[in-house]
Amino acid sequence: MTEEAYSPGLAGVIAGETAIACVDQGKLLYRGYPIADLAENATFEESAYLLLHGELPNQLQLKGFKDTLDRYRPLRGELIDALRKIPAPVPMMDVLRSMVSYAGHFDPTNGTDSDDLRERATWLTAQIAGIIAARFRLLNGKEPLDAKPGLSHAGQILYQAHGTAPDDLSAKLVDLTLILYAEHDFNASTFAARVICSTMSDLTSAIVGGIGALKGPLHGGANEAAMEMLQQFKSADEARLWIREALAGKGKIMGFGHRVYKNGDHRATILERELRKLAAQKGQGEWMDIYDAIKDPMVNEKKIYPNVDYPCGLTYYLLDLPLDLYTPLFVASRVTGWSAHFIEQAANNRIYRPLSIYTGPAERAVPPIGSR
Ligand code: CMC
Repeated sequence: MTEEAYSPGLAGVIAGETAIACVDQGKLLYRGYPIADLAENATFEESAYLLLHGELPNQLQLKGFKDTLDRYRPLRGELIDALRKIPAPVPMMDVLRSMVSYAGHFDPTNGTDSDDLRERATWLTAQIAGIIAARFRLLNGKEPLDAKPGLSHAGQILYQAHGTAPDDLSAKLVDLTLILYAEHDFNASTFAARVICSTMSDLTSAIVGGIGALKGPLHGGANEAAMEMLQQFKSADEARLWIREALAGKGKIMGFGHRVYKNGDHRATILERELRKLAAQKGQGEWMDIYDAIKDPMVNEKKIYPNVDYPCGLTYYLLDLPLDLYTPLFVASRVTGWSAHFIEQAANNRIYRPLSIYTGPAERAVPPIGSR
């Protein structure tokens, strides 16, 4: 291998083909549909069906998909018992990683062709939402709630976590974040899932791997990290002072920057518009002042734009969602994108096995143990 072919972090490297999403400077398409169009005219369930099946569902297909999700929502007693046994301080993403792996031992679906995998993906999507809500309730000293058939996927998570029917605004905004989070071509967690698939491993293992990759603050963990950053400020002036120092010290600002988008993330633009409305509606305009106090110098001076996690953190916060649910909600959506990629990879597979440049010691002989 020549050193010229080496690209740290695989930046700029084309590692495969996909018909699922197109991420480009000027566009983000799911199976050809612009993300703004889906955000305006579709739901998470329609987007998930689109990713998994290749086309938007008609009414009958959508009803079938939602019914299947509802059928797969109940968690087995073994899972609830296991949730009770995981110590309370364990972070929610770690709980989710372990529980998806454990749930895999009770997988009610069979087979490995594309239709079987779609069924398993639908089961995993339903179970993941239930696990998040059940853990949240147990941590709050409450028993897990049965699902309420007929609610949207977003509404279901909110209902099962809080125990009351979600208001329309919360359900609609969480639904929007789920649409925006569902898919993003060869991002780190999806690539991890595809690598696992490429060894002819199973879908549940790929989803567990995806969760492990997503939780880091450079990826999905950024929505929590961005809100943690904003929460430390009592005013926009405090935020302005902080960002000056952070930038002078070359600190990484969570919720900003992107490997592919260099002129802004479309998802962030869509969500920020709704966030501004939400903040105004809730009489929480001072949060947008703090938000802008960080954003303006990043964009105007550094030319580094917010990614979707920046407005998402504050959106969830203004919807009164607890911080450690933010990245799990990302999983509740991205499981559909990961699964679509798994199905695509499995249908046309070649194992991922890149090369490396060796930087270790030159060849040497093993000295006898007594002389080491
Ligand atoms: N804050 C400050 N400087 C930044 C940031 C940031 N958030 N992002 C990039 N830069 C700087 C970086 O330091 C580098 O400067 P220099 O050339 O002087 O060394 C320059 O911009 C180019 O950045 P890069 O390191 O080449 O970017 P990358 O493609 O390797 O990393 C990233 C992309 C998303 C990991 C990075 O921008 C980052 O760490 N952002 C903060 C974490 C974050 O918000 N992640 C969410 C990603 S998008 C949604 C998701 O997946 O959840």
